[in-house]
Amino acid sequence: CGIVGYIGTEDAKEILLRGLEKLEYRGYDSAGIAVASDQGVSVFKEKGRIANLRSAVDETKKGTVGIGHTRWATHGAPSQVNAHPHQSTNERFTIVHNGVIENYSQLRKEHLQHVELESDTDTEIIVQLIERFANEGKTTEEAFRMTLSLLKGSYATALLDNQDPDTIYVGKNKSPLLVGIADGVNVVASDAMAMLQVTNEFIELMDEEIVVVTRDNVQVKTLEGENVARDSYTAELDSSDIEKGTYPHYMLKEIDEQPFVIRNIITKYKNENDTIKLDENIRQAVLDSDRVYIIAAGTSYHAGLVGKQLIEKIANKPVETHIASEFLYNMPLLSEKPLFIFISQSGETADSRGVLVEIKKLGHKSLTITNVPGSTLSREADYTLHTYAGPEIAVASTKAYTAQMAVLAILAVDTARAAGIQMDFDPLQELAIVANAMETLADRKEELEQIARDYMSVTRNCFFIGRAMDYHVCLEGALKLKEISYIQAEGFAGGELKHGTIALIEEGTPVIGLATQEHVNLSIRGNIKEVVARGAYPCVISMEGMEEEEDTLVIPHVHEYLTPLVSVLPLQIISYYAALHRGCDVDKPRNLAKSVTVE
Ligand code: G6P
Repeated sequence: CGIVGYIGTEDAKEILLRGLEKLEYRGYDSAGIAVASDQGVSVFKEKGRIANLRSAVDETKKGTVGIGHTRWATHGAPSQVNAHPHQSTNERFTIVHNGVIENYSQLRKEHLQHVELESDTDTEIIVQLIERFANEGKTTEEAFRMTLSLLKGSYATALLDNQDPDTIYVGKNKSPLLVGIADGVNVVASDAMAMLQVTNEFIELMDEEIVVVTRDNVQVKTLEGENVARDSYTAELDSSDIEKGTYPHYMLKEIDEQPFVIRNIITKYKNENDTIKLDENIRQAVLDSDRVYIIAAGTSYHAGLVGKQLIEKIANKPVETHIASEFLYNMPLLSEKPLFIFISQSGETADSRGVLVEIKKLGHKSLTITNVPGSTLSREADYTLHTYAGPEIAVASTKAYTAQMAVLAILAVDTARAAGIQMDFDPLQELAIVANAMETLADRKEELEQIARDYMSVTRNCFFIGRAMDYHVCLEGALKLKEISYIQAEGFAGGELKHGTIALIEEGTPVIGLATQEHVNLSIRGNIKEVVARGAYPCVISMEGMEEEEDTLVIPHVHEYLTPLVSVLPLQIISYYAALHRGCDVDKPRNLAKSVTVE
């Protein structure tokens, strides 16, 4: 979910709505705003996109203070009633909240037995508790702090009190929240991007802190009410390159940007003498570690699987890649000197951040590989490597994934060289070849659209098989297809399908086989024959030099370490057209959010 707040001199509605549009990547099930003036607080909320909210807002209700929210449902279905803001029974308090309150039923039982709740959300508990404490004679700030101290779980929250419409109270624990400052105007945002329209100077909140925000003042406090001094920082973000241009969808634009992103990475990571440019401390941290633990979610996890191969093969260092949401519950025995690498496009994923918080408590070192350098994971880790992919707007990740793998390859080689390992693999040169190969494939959209038509028009399911690094790309290809086209898709290791899933192969079931890894070419070809023998409709994507006559698509030859960056492109493009032909919302698929800031 995403939160915004504004207190200044202009009518807050348009600023809040524009801010929410920038945060729509955090969820788009429903949205709402509340605007406060001397006449009281007006709340507007709607199910669906911000556009729906926009048309529901009453233009005549004006106010220079307000809060807003875009939701990705956790407690309670997406609906107008469950949309934020929520109000207390007597409508004195209005709140927006991102996060999950784990002890909400207990709080309800203990403190709010006789209060009738309107929604199914955990958020309403917060606002009702505040009202209860205020009714007992506490000031709003005290009631706010008392309530937050009772909450278990995660929250980023902003509160309005209609008896004091010139203050916004905000607080956070685990979920990200920033306060932006300007002259006579202050703002609140889950992500700086939302409020760059007002300011680029921000104050970061730490866990279990609140801020009392007025037009001229911003006071950070602990939950006990002690003042905290906090310097502001300048967010170095550029909101200009987030337009679609002539593209029908962000996803297609971002697919096409991949060659430029790779070239950009080469430039950013190259010294004058054509060697790798990398922070000495990062190099040392990797060298000093005896094992690397890669933590990530979704597509970034798939990049992490490839990262493990690269770092182990190139730098000879053991690596484990873990799904962020599972790590703390299934914690492996850690080595003596672990280094944690967090891979996250947004740098905001709560599952990954949860791991970072815990491993920091254990005193371990951390590196974040992210596309958003000012993000939570980047601020909180010891080191950051930037993927320089430019803003990625489509929910389905494309250019961020290939950028992550490119940076991991550079990191692997840098580590290997520093450790004195000899090799003839120059990632900067090889990535330049990758960029050209990507361009060639991006130019073959008509052919790929036809493949999407042939294979995906009517099917209910689709399988992706590959071996070695192709297997990891198959996982990503399947994720791309299912998340935007809703076709049930699974990626399998070529040899594993026969151990159960082959039972699902029927006459005409599409099976996409990847064959870009020389050392497993024969065996994956065998696996493809096995499914064809059972009626599968095969689509084989191979690499130049390994192609066979019946292959559907042959991708240009690149170094075997870097094939995932290229073989994924046709899979991205096929998924795009499959979704398009099925009438799906390509950039904003149902039930998803670009950045999931709840665990
Ligand atoms: C969400 C997105 C996925 C993304 C994952 C991890 O679930 O829908 O596309 O891969 O989060 O996001 P991150 O920003 O941490 O890479």
